[in-house]
Amino acid sequence: MKHTKIIDLLTGKNLLHEVKAKGWVKTFRNNQFIALNDGSTINNIQCVLDLEKFPAELLKKIHTGSALSITGTLVESKGAGQNVEIQVSKLKVYGEANPEEYPIQPKKHSLEFLRENAHLRIRTNMFGAIMRVRSTLAFAVHKYFQDNGFFYFNAPIITGSDAEGAGEMFRVTALDLNNLPKNEQGEVDTKEDFFGKTTNLTVSGQLEAETYAMALGSVYTFGPTFRAENSNTSRHLAEFWMIEPEVAFNDLDDNMDLAEDFIKSVLRYTLEKCEDDLIFLDKRLKEEEKNKPMAERSEMSLLEKLQFVIDNNFKRVSYTEAIDILRNCKPNKNKKFKYVIDEWGADLQSEHERYLVEKHFKCPVILFDYPAEIKAFYMRLNEDEKTVRAMDILFPGIGEIVGGSEREERYDVLLEKMKKLGIDEEELWWYLDTRKFGTAPHSGFGLGFERLVLFTTGMTNIRDVIPFPRTPQNAEF
Ligand code: 4AD
Ligand code: MG
Repeated sequence: MKHTKIIDLLTGKNLLHEVKAKGWVKTFRNNQFIALNDGSTINNIQCVLDLEKFPAELLKKIHTGSALSITGTLVESKGAGQNVEIQVSKLKVYGEANPEEYPIQPKKHSLEFLRENAHLRIRTNMFGAIMRVRSTLAFAVHKYFQDNGFFYFNAPIITGSDAEGAGEMFRVTALDLNNLPKNEQGEVDTKEDFFGKTTNLTVSGQLEAETYAMALGSVYTFGPTFRAENSNTSRHLAEFWMIEPEVAFNDLDDNMDLAEDFIKSVLRYTLEKCEDDLIFLDKRLKEEEKNKPMAERSEMSLLEKLQFVIDNNFKRVSYTEAIDILRNCKPNKNKKFKYVIDEWGADLQSEHERYLVEKHFKCPVILFDYPAEIKAFYMRLNEDEKTVRAMDILFPGIGEIVGGSEREERYDVLLEKMKKLGIDEEELWWYLDTRKFGTAPHSGFGLGFERLVLFTTGMTNIRDVIPFPRTPQNAEF
């Protein structure tokens, strides 16, 4: 007999039929009640044992974490907490989980402890919920773009270019590090390397995506990106997943409309599909908030926050307006910010972004028209020749969730900018070609997938929303 997923058993369709379930024991009460979970849902199925039927030897093998196959009759449950349960007739133990050793016991574990056991933390209710939500969000991303005429484009992971020009790249090499070939100048001779040149893990698929947008019209990437920035924060990973749509003939306003519609749509879909998991995460957050001082508690619950983002327009504000607000705000005047804002041109830190979103506007904010100096080379220069058509989307509790722009499509302007910044034209000859042949306005953005998962699940550390986080000094598993 084939087994049925617990999520399907719980609908009660097979009532009074013989069913089989397979999963892991969450709890085993009074030597009689097994709460079994197979990961298909946050909800367990209760399995009731008739004590006389099962030898004590077998019962001893049932603990939290044991893997079981259970056969029995699905019946209505008289107990509180569930509608149906299995009256067990047959039970097989695949593998035990010795309670002396198994780290995941039915009690509250700290997030730090669970990070050290990232291979087992998925067996907790919390991580089950987070990772099902993550999976649903990923599907929603593809669904949104596929439903809206975008083509999925796979950018190379190994590349010679630094799209963001920030120099925070991981080297890819096949050279023997203990015996490096040197050129006449005594430098490492990368011509001898696998690709005959210096290569890195990509920081963004944007530049390659642009070449495809200039033929397919609307494309998107959804893949891993890598940054060797040594920032040990709760919002940075060295390996993270980025979603990068790129659209021919879109200007910056179209780009903002797309980003806003996209985010709302994936949240709406996930709210609908992951109701049980999100209700669980909502409760978890409420419990967490109880430990915080009143002033720091969030005004909205997780579910309210998600609904709020879906229902309200994002506030669109120019960088110049934002600087005025920040310059004159209390924490700036009282020097409460770590980085005080004095002048137009300052780069915004996460404390400023969060002030704008959480204290001033109290809703998601799209900042646009940033100073050219603090943004990447490919962004379109405005007529003022000081600002570029950049946009960042800022979210409560997260800060920057999206970074994007209208691209500089004018060959001469782009070339000049590259020269000014010392970007090698020979290296990016193919990128310049897109401006030589049939150039056209186009725009796109990048959304950090883990930051979206953070927001959706109400978690606060990015290490808890990716299965096996990669951060400085940490590549376990
Ligand atoms: O703002 P960024 O650097 O933009 C780009 O890479 C552009 N090429 C995107 C484009 O226009 N196609 O990164 C985009 C987003 C950020 O807003 C943030 O959400 C996320 O990627 N991000 C990170 N997420 C986790 N860990 C990191 N180290 C991240 N760096 C950026
Ligand atoms: Mg950015």
